[in-house]
Amino acid sequence: MTETPTPADLVADLTLTEKVRLVHGAVDPEGRATGYVPGVERLNIPPLRLVDGPLGVRVPGESATAFPAPVALAATFDSALAREHGAALGRETRGAGQDALLAPGVNLIRVPHNGRNFEYLSEDPVLSATMGARVVAGIQSADVIATPKHYVANSQETHRASVSAEIGERALRECYLPSFRDAVEAGAGSVMTAYNGVDGVRMSDHRELLTEVLKGEWGFDGFVVSDWYGTEGAAATANAGLDVEMPGAPPEELHDGTGEENDEGGAENGGDGGGTDGSDGGFDDLPEEIARGMPDPRTCERFAEALADAVRDGDVPESRLDDMVARVLRAMDDVGLLSEEDDRAAGAVDTPAHREHAREVAARGTVLLKNDGGALPLDDGDDVAVIGPNVDEAVLGGGGSSETTPVVATAPVEGFEARAAGDVTVAHGLPRVEGVSMFDLLAGDEETDEDARGPDVDGAVDAAGDADAAVVFVRDAATEAMDRESLRLPGRQDELVERTAAAAARTVVVVNTSAPVELPWRDTVDAVLVNWYPGQAHGDAVASVCYGDADPGGRLPVTFAPEGAYPTAVDERRFPGVDGAVSHDEGVFVGYRWFDADDDRAAGAGDAEPTYPFGHGRSYATFEYRDASVEAAPAADDAEYRVTVTVANVADRDGREVVQAYVRPPAVDGVDRPVRELAGFEAVAIPAGEERTVEVALDERAFARYGESGWRVDSGEYAVEIGRSSRDARVERVVERRDEA
Ligand code: BGC
Repeated sequence: MTETPTPADLVADLTLTEKVRLVHGAVDPEGRATGYVPGVERLNIPPLRLVDGPLGVRVPGESATAFPAPVALAATFDSALAREHGAALGRETRGAGQDALLAPGVNLIRVPHNGRNFEYLSEDPVLSATMGARVVAGIQSADVIATPKHYVANSQETHRASVSAEIGERALRECYLPSFRDAVEAGAGSVMTAYNGVDGVRMSDHRELLTEVLKGEWGFDGFVVSDWYGTEGAAATANAGLDVEMPGAPPEELHDGTGEENDEGGAENGGDGGGTDGSDGGFDDLPEEIARGMPDPRTCERFAEALADAVRDGDVPESRLDDMVARVLRAMDDVGLLSEEDDRAAGAVDTPAHREHAREVAARGTVLLKNDGGALPLDDGDDVAVIGPNVDEAVLGGGGSSETTPVVATAPVEGFEARAAGDVTVAHGLPRVEGVSMFDLLAGDEETDEDARGPDVDGAVDAAGDADAAVVFVRDAATEAMDRESLRLPGRQDELVERTAAAAARTVVVVNTSAPVELPWRDTVDAVLVNWYPGQAHGDAVASVCYGDADPGGRLPVTFAPEGAYPTAVDERRFPGVDGAVSHDEGVFVGYRWFDADDDRAAGAGDAEPTYPFGHGRSYATFEYRDASVEAAPAADDAEYRVTVTVANVADRDGREVVQAYVRPPAVDGVDRPVRELAGFEAVAIPAGEERTVEVALDERAFARYGESGWRVDSGEYAVEIGRSSRDARVERVVERRDEA
C-alpha cells in the first residue's frame, strides 16, 4: 500500500509553474466558486474551491439556507450556538461542493455607519473573539476551511481599498487583533487580508502583521489569501507573507467558466461571482459613491507570471514560494482534501436542521430593548395590525458578497398569520424601503422600482387604532462597498411609528437593521425589539418571540446611541478619514468603552449617553443574582479565573439569561484604561421558578493591558461586575493582583 504523500513531499515534486498555479486564483470551470485554485492532476492534488460568505453559501444562481446576519448571532452571546452555527455553515459549504468558506467576518464594529456591520459580530473584542472562534471551529469541524476576514481594521467601506487605519500598537493589540488571534487558535485554515492599510502599509504587504504577528507570534500555519483584487505587488507582497492572490482573473472572465460574458447570473445572486466590477475596464466609469468602496480589478494577476519571474530572478526566494504552497496544501490536508479515500464529512444544503437552526438564531438573537407594562408577549387571541412598508418580505441581509438566496423564506405577515389566533390586518403605510446592493450599483442599476402602493400612513393609523396591538416593522438599507449615510431610518418610517403609536392601544416596534439606528420615538411606544437581518426565518422567528414561544434571548452587541455621540462621529479624521488616513486617536475607547469614559473625552460629542447600552436586553422572565465568587482556576484549567454565580428565575415563565462579567481595572498613573471591559459571558436557559449555578471563565486578558513591553497585569484591586449589561451590575467581587509584568 502506498502512503499518501505529505504536503512537504508534494512541494518537493512540484515544478515552478505548478507551484505558482497553486498560489493564484483562476476561473472555476463550473462557474460556481467565488475563488478557485486549480489542482495539479499529475500529483493528485485536487482543485480548491472557495465560496462566500458569512450569511450562507453564495453560488450564483443556486439556493442555500439564508442564515441570520452574524450580528444577530453575536447578540445571542451563546458560544455553543456559535459552534453549531459554524458547523451548519460548513455543512452547507460541503453540500454545495465547495472546500473553503469566506467567513466569518470578525472585524470589530468601530464605525456605526459601516455598510458591512451586519457581516461582523460586535464592538467588543472579547465577544467578537469568542463567538468568531466558535464559528471557525464549527466550520472546520465540517471539513471545510474557515477564512476569518478582513485582517485587519477594515472598519469602513468608504475608501476601503485605499485608506490607512492609523491605529498604533496598543489599540491594535487590545481591540482589533484578538478576534483574529482566537480564530487562528480555533484552527482556521486561512485568513483573508483587508483592502485597507494599517499605519501606512497596505495589509496585503504588511510584513509585520502577516509574517511576524500572524504567522510568527500566533503560529498560524495555514494560508493568507488576499481580498478580491486586493494585491498591489508581486515580490514585495509575497515576501511580506501573503500566500494566495484572488481572484486571479479579470471580472469579465469570472462571469462563468467559459471566459465569455455571461448576462444571466442576475445581480440578485451576485452573478459576477467575483465580488467586484462586472464590466470590462469599467472601474473608471463607476458611480462615485460605489467607486469609493471598490478595489481596482485590473490588479489581478500579480501572482502569475510576475511571481514566477520574481522567483527566477531571485527577488522572491524559492523557499518562500515553497512555504506559500505548503501552507495551501496543509490547509487542504487538514480538511481531508489530500487523502486518497474521500472520508470528508458529508454536507447538504437547505436541510430541515439548518432551517430550524436559522430560525433558532433569528429568535434567540432578538433583543427586547423595552417592554413597558408587559406589552409583550402578545395574547394568542389579540387582534394585531402588522404594519410597515416591507412586511411582505423577509429581510435576508444586506448587499454585497454575502447575499444568499434561500429556498424558502417567511415574511413577517406570514409568520403572524400562521401564529395568531386573533385577526391579523396588514397595512404598509409607506412605499417599500429598497435594500441596496453593491451588485446593482456596480451594474449601474440604481433604479428603485417606484412602489405602485404610494404612501398611506392614514390607512396604517386606522389599522393600528382598530387592533389590540400594532406591530410596526421598520428597516434600514446597508451594503458592502458603501457606508450608511445616517443612523436615521430611511424615508418616513419614524413618522409612521409616531403616528401609529399615537393611535394604537399598544405599539410594538420591530427594528430590522444592520447595526444601531436612532429610535427617536422610543418613549412613545410600548415595546421595541431589535431583530437585525434575521434571514429566511424572519416571520416565524419574530412571531415566536412576539407571542412568547421563545424568550428574547438577545443582548446588544453594539451600543445604541444618538448618531452624533459615537467617537467616529465627532471628527472626520476618525471617519471617513482625511487625505487617505483614518485616525484612531480614540485608541481603545471603542464602543461602550467610549460612552463609559467618565472624563470629558466624550463631551464634544453632545449627549454622549447611550440610549441602550452594550449588553442590554430584557427577558420576559425576571432574574435574581446571588452568591457570586471569583476564584483563580486550577492550573490545568483553560481559564485563569472562574466566576460562579447563582441566577434564579423568579418569574412564572421560562427564560434565557446572559450572565456578563466586566472587569474594572485599578487606576494606574499615566495609563488611560477603560472604566470596564467585558471579560466573559455565559448564556443560560432557566425554567420558571428554578435557579442555576452559572460559571463564567475569565482568561488572562481579563486583567491585562498592552504596554510598551507587551501584555502586563498591573498590581491592584480589580472589581469584577457580574450582571445583565455593561450598565446593570447585579453583584460585584474584588480580585487582588500583584504585578506580573
Ligand atoms: C469582499 C470579501 C469577499 C470577496 C469575494 C470582496 O469584495 O470584501 O469579503 O469574500 O469579495 O466575493
